[in-house]
Order: sequence, then C-alpha cells, then structure tokens
Amino acid sequence: MRRFVPVLTPLSFLGLVLAVGASRAAEDPAPPAGQTYTGAKKCASCHFKQFMTWKKDKHSKVFDLLPDKYKTDATCLKCHSTGYGTPTGFKDIKSTPDLAGNTCEICHGPGSEHEKVAQKYGKEKLTAAQEKEVRDSMWLMLPENVCVKCHLTKAHKESATPPELRAKD
Ligand code: HEC
Ligand code: HEC
Ligand code: HEC
Ligand code: HEC
Repeated sequence: MRRFVPVLTPLSFLGLVLAVGASRAAEDPAPPAGQTYTGAKKCASCHFKQFMTWKKDKHSKVFDLLPDKYKTDATCLKCHSTGYGTPTGFKDIKSTPDLAGNTCEICHGPGSEHEKVAQKYGKEKLTAAQEKEVRDSMWLMLPENVCVKCHLTKAHKESATPPELRAKD
C-alpha cells in the first residue's frame, strides 16, 4: 500500500476537503459506468486495512446513531446510509444491512465491476499494467465534491462541521 486512508478527525477534515478538491482525484480516469453497490464486507476481503480504519471512523456508525423512529425515514437516510434512493443502494436494514451507515462506496462510488476486474488476478502479485487496470476501475475519490453533499448543510442546528466550513446564511 503506497497510501493510507486518512483518519478523519475534525482537524484533518479541512485539509482533506482542500486536498480532495485539488488532488489527483480530478485526473483519475472514470471507472466503468453502471456499477452496483456491494457493501463494505466485500471490499474488506481485499482491503482489510482500510476496512479496519473505516470501522473506527464515525461514518461506519451513522445509521446506528439514528433514533429508532428515524431508521426508516427517507429524509435522514440519504445522509445516514449508502446510496439511498438509487436502484442498488440502501433500502432497509433487513434487506441491505451491508449498506447501513456511510460505507466505502459513499466516497469511492459503487464497486461491483471493480471487484470483478480485481478478481481476475486472484492473489497473484500485480504487474504495473494490471494494477493500473484495477485502479482505473474505481474512483480514488468521487469527482464531485462528495463531502459537501452531507456536510455544510443546515441539516442540524448543532453541527460538528468546523464553523469556517459551514454554509453561510
Ligand atoms: C478482489 C479484490 C478487490 C475487491 C473485492 C475490491 N478491491 Fe479495491 N482494489 C483492489 C486492488 C488489487 C487494487 C489496486 C491497488 C492495490 O493493490 O491496493 C484496488 C484499488 C482500489 C482503490 C484505488 C483506486 C485508484 O484509483 O487508485 C480504491 C479506492 C478501492 N480499491 C476501493 C475499493 C472498494 C470501495 C471496494 C468495495 C466496493 C473494493 N475496492 C473492492 C482489489 C479489490
Ligand atoms: C444533508 C445530510 C443530513 C440529513 C438529511 C440528516 N443528517 Fe444527521 N448528520 C449529518 C451530518 C453531516 C452529521 C455530522 C454532524 C454535523 O455535521 O452536523 C449528522 C449527525 C447526526 C447525529 C449525531 C449528532 C450530531 O448532531 O452530531 C444524529 C443523531 C443525526 N444526525 C440524526 C439525523 C436524523 C434523525 C435525521 C432525519 C430527521 C438526519 N440526521 C438527517 C447529515 C445529515
Ligand atoms: C469518508 C470518505 C471515505 C470512506 C468512507 C472510505 N474512504 Fe477510502 N479513501 C478516501 C480518501 C480521501 C482516500 C485517499 C485519496 C487520495 O489519495 O487522494 C482513500 C483511499 C483509499 C484507497 C487507496 C489506497 C491506495 O493504495 O491507493 C483504498 C484502497 C480505499 N480508500 C479503500 C477504502 C475502503 C475499502 C473503504 C471502506 C471499508 C474506504 N476506503 C472508505 C476516502 C474514504
Ligand atoms: C453520505 C453522507 C456523508 C458523506 C458523503 C460524508 N460524510 Fe462525513 N459524516 C456524515 C455523518 C452522518 C456523520 C456523523 C457521524 C457522527 O456524528 O457520529 C459524519 C461525520 C464526519 C466526521 C466526524 C465529525 C466528528 O464529530 O468527529 C468527519 C471529520 C467527516 N464526517 C468528514 C467527512 C469527509 C472529509 C468527507 C468526504 C471525503 C465526508 N465526511 C463525507 C455523513 C457524510
């Protein structure tokens, strides 16, 4: 692994948003279209280290923190689950438990084709060309300003978003 998944502390938040905006992510080639959501467990089979980092990140628990009466509320689920309202995204906790909370795919996009491309090579050591092919099948970071879709809102009166990043009146 050349890079690491940053631990998302409020302090690193500002840096990340800026870094993501200006980073290589913008030049990342578009992965195949029409990928479906797989859930974090599938990703974990090849990216265990990132999975363990994510498990400790607050995003992994944003469904659980909803009071029970809101766990089926569409207005909450668009930010407190993964892919809610899209054909293969979160529906409810019974049928799509692996998409509860904000999983890998909120930041990297759906990964079904990426999984297939990577599986072709099994456990063998990838050549540079193979690694490029696998990387090109997944966003290093979704190109739109993904964090701001859920943060920088007035969804809540009290916000953990750093004051300088909050939407202005
Ligand atoms: C069958 C194994 C496999 C599965 C399953 C898998 N990946 Fe990967 N992924 C790889 C390999 C191999 C690479 C190449 C880099 C490396 O060796 O880590 C990679 C690279 C990536 C990258 C870097 C992309 C880039 O542009 O550099 C991201 C992000 C990523 N995977 C996310 C995911 C997510 C999210 C999931 C689940 C939806 C997932 N992966 C599922 C094997 C897999
Ligand atoms: C537009 C996105 C969005 C929507 C819609 C949304 N939330 Fe949140 N929620 C967030 C974000 C982002 C946080 C992290 C803290 C922050 O920035 O306010 C959060 C945090 C929370 C927390 C943790 C306590 C806190 O304020 O930090 C609870 C509980 C919560 N939301 C409940 C809900 C409920 C219930 C609904 C539906 C009525 C809902 N949220 C709708 C984005 C959203
Ligand atoms: C809140 C957003 C977010 C979530 C959730 C997230 N990641 Fe990432 N991930 C990132 C960012 C940001 C980077 C670094 C991008 C860069 O280097 O520009 C990254 C990088 C990666 C890489 C690339 C490492 C390399 O060697 O190039 C992999 C693989 C990856 N993440 C897998 C995962 C997996 C698997 C999960 C879920 C278990 C996950 N990520 C959850 C934001 C996220
Ligand atoms: C799909 C919605 C969504 C997206 C996209 C999203 N987040 Fe979050 N994020 C949340 C929610 C909901 C919480 C609340 C977790 C809690 O309060 O326990 C949160 C919490 C956080 C926290 C923790 C705040 C604290 O109190 O410690 C940080 C930091 C953060 N997000 C950064 C990011 C960054 C950086 C990105 C983009 C790379 C991002 N988020 C993308 C929904 C989202």
